[in-house]
Amino acid sequence: MCGIIGYIGNKDITPLLLDGLQKLEYRGYDSAGICVSDKQQLKTVKAKGKISELAKKVKSKTLNGAIGIAHTRWATHGEPNEANAHPHLDCKQELAIVHNGIIENHQALTELLKKEGHKIKSQTDSEIIAHLVEKFYKNDLEAAVRQALKLIEGAFGLAVIHKDENKIVVARKGSPLIIGVGENEMFIASDIPAILEHTKRVIYLNDNEIAVITQGKYIITNLEGEQINKEVDEIKWNVEQMEKKGFKHFMLKEIMEQPEAIANTLRGRIKDGKVKLTVDFDIQKINRIIITACGTSWHSALIGKHFLESIAQIPAEVDYASEFRYRSPIVSSEDVMVVISQSGETADTLAALREAKVKQAKTLGIVNVVGSTITREVDSGIYLHVGPEIGVASTKAFTSQVVALLLLALYIRQQQGHEIDKDLLKQLDKIPYQINQALKQADNIKEVAAKFVDSKNFLYLGRGLNFPVALEGALKLKEISYIHAEGYPAAEIKHGPIALIDEDMPVVFVATKNNLSQKIISNMQEVKARDGNIIAIVSQDDKEISKLADSIIKVPEVIDELSPIINAIPLQLLAYYIADLKGLDVDKPRNLAKSVTVE
Ligand code: M6R
Repeated sequence: MCGIIGYIGNKDITPLLLDGLQKLEYRGYDSAGICVSDKQQLKTVKAKGKISELAKKVKSKTLNGAIGIAHTRWATHGEPNEANAHPHLDCKQELAIVHNGIIENHQALTELLKKEGHKIKSQTDSEIIAHLVEKFYKNDLEAAVRQALKLIEGAFGLAVIHKDENKIVVARKGSPLIIGVGENEMFIASDIPAILEHTKRVIYLNDNEIAVITQGKYIITNLEGEQINKEVDEIKWNVEQMEKKGFKHFMLKEIMEQPEAIANTLRGRIKDGKVKLTVDFDIQKINRIIITACGTSWHSALIGKHFLESIAQIPAEVDYASEFRYRSPIVSSEDVMVVISQSGETADTLAALREAKVKQAKTLGIVNVVGSTITREVDSGIYLHVGPEIGVASTKAFTSQVVALLLLALYIRQQQGHEIDKDLLKQLDKIPYQINQALKQADNIKEVAAKFVDSKNFLYLGRGLNFPVALEGALKLKEISYIHAEGYPAAEIKHGPIALIDEDMPVVFVATKNNLSQKIISNMQEVKARDGNIIAIVSQDDKEISKLADSIIKVPEVIDELSPIINAIPLQLLAYYIADLKGLDVDKPRNLAKSVTVE
């Protein structure tokens, strides 16, 4: 949600900042801007729309300098236009800020600043930061930022430069910010991809930390000004993982790399018939597990609940993180809160985690991004290890989360002294191969997509473990193709949604073989009787269900526990091909951002 990059050093600054923005574009793409200091003045260029628009404008300007900050915006306050684009400058045009987050008391501060004669030019909440720093500036940027921060309520990842000072002052509360340490050069960024090409050495800022960054040095302090010594972490991702490698979109690449991604999630975690995880608290004393997450991660949480209850025999609840945090949940020290997040930065999930910690629950994170805020705040964790997920629509993280949750349920069962299902373990170990088989349906799925590309609504139906898969399929379609889609437990349609069914309503049934197959067949017949157009995901050797469907997509047969992993694949591909056939920007769907770091 908004991307920030900053640089101080001797490299050609404009291409470096533009390239960094490009890599952060998944965080927001409503408008973008860049500001470079040549020690005499600040030069700023902004553009509405994607980074490519900014790059076109920058071409005609000379933006030389050794210090610069840049921003790609996901609009919260104020429409996406040039005036609202960051960087924002003060009245004298001497200092510039880029901000990720929301300033909650911006209205009161705007009134105050206006009374003092500041001219506010944009509708954003962020611009007031520039004016506040200006108000307090007396030849000391760091001191002015500190004073400004005392008045600000809300969330921020913030970077500030002044034309007379050879430094970038950054601060964080609630929105991620990292410092990249180079050779006689320093970087700041919202996320690793922006700077990975230049350095793999990073420092993660925590909330309420301020850093002053000069060309060869950084000093990190808390709000009281006390110095903090922090470790420099070494990033394990490489630049190639951030590239499309010949695929038309990151989403397609990420769908296709699921066999390898899942193999990485499993690596080293199944050995000699046992599950190997590191959980730093006594798993035997668990009373209940509460899982919180948002979006796709919430869908995997629903599947996790099944696993934890049926395999580990532990009561499990699933909550939207955004709801959990505000409903005075009853949580005790006997409870474990599992938070699931691809990014590890989702504001609601982080807040739910903190709420659970206040209530003394043990916490465990299932996260992809190494070093992200959630990973630093949980008691224990399971990394997904699927590599960077850049497409805004989550794909490989989802299937990997399901695998991690299954491992967790098996691990708890094992630690409780029970036998675990060795056959299930064996099948799980082989799942990358089956995913590969499922991916071979891509051409068939593309043909199905072509038939339904003009549909205005879709229903997705599934039962048991595959109800969350139906929800996930519907979410994928909504986010990237802008087609209205609903996911339902198949048996629920007769309680309402069946009224929607006519010949224009495609109904996607997740109908692979399991103990509920006969029930699903009845649900299909109900749809057929009302002229619904059925697309069915069926097991490879199915004959019966296929007779009822108008379009079929076959997937390899796997045991029920593994079916969500396999069945998600055709739904990801169906959404992808429909969106692509519509000519939409699959990786950057409108109004969305990859990492939602505001409430
Ligand atoms: O990074 P997280 O897993 O915490 O993100 C949660 C949701 O924002 C995310 O899954 C979102 O729903 C995706 N766009 C789904 O494709």
